[in-house]
Amino acid sequence: MKLTTDRLILKEISRKDLHKLHELHSAAEVDEFNTLGIPENIKATKKILKSMLKARKKHPRSSYTWKIILKETKEFIGLCGMTLSNDRFKLGEIYYKLFPVFWGKGYATEVSKALIITGFNVFRLHKVEAGVAVNNVKSIKVLEKSGMTREGLRRKILPIRGEWVDNYHYAIVEDDLRNY
Ligand SMILES: CC(C)(COP(=O)(O)OP(=O)(O)OC[C@H]1O[C@@H](n2cnc3c(N)ncnc32)[C@H](O)[C@@H]1OP(=O)(O)O)[C@@H](O)C(=O)NCCC(=O)NCCS
Repeated sequence: MKLTTDRLILKEISRKDLHKLHELHSAAEVDEFNTLGIPENIKATKKILKSMLKARKKHPRSSYTWKIILKETKEFIGLCGMTLSNDRFKLGEIYYKLFPVFWGKGYATEVSKALIITGFNVFRLHKVEAGVAVNNVKSIKVLEKSGMTREGLRRKILPIRGEWVDNYHYAIVEDDLRNY
């Protein structure tokens, strides 16, 4: 499944992306609010990639991982994904992460909006959600620019570098107002 936005192409991750994925997860700035932690070695990243690839074969499918490609240069600039609930609840949860050199250009907002639109129009979801560490101001901005509402605070649920960190729960319902 391939998605496109004005400046980006979202392509499903493949075995060939192992080294880029490892590089992305090894960047300290990307790790700051990430519960995965920096991988110990390439083998650890291989394991993560394997589970992403395995999800492609499941029926019904509940997990999608896309690499984010810059249309202009064809560079791999980050990763994003969506996890679907069972059919009855019609919920999807999104995430995104970019190499720091590409931050601050509106790319994550472009990705987030594309995932939300895909959630509603392709997966026929009722609600799209996202969780974010309370100090992750950049990502909070992205979610709010995408029209999501802060619905609550979940206390101490994110394991980040040995601490339990609070998480804001954000969401958008299919009939909420959107400017895109
Ligand atoms: C969060 C992340 C994806 C944002 O990517 P991005 O492409 O820079 O995001 P955008 O450019 O679309 O928007 C970022 C917004 O944060 C704002 N921002 C940047 N630094 C900020 C700060 N210190 N305080 C407040 N806002 C800040 C930017 O100004 C921008 O808002 P604006 O368009 O209104 O000016 C990126 O920082 C990242 O990959 N972080 C590591 C992984 C991660 O945390 N993922 C999210 C998990 S929930």
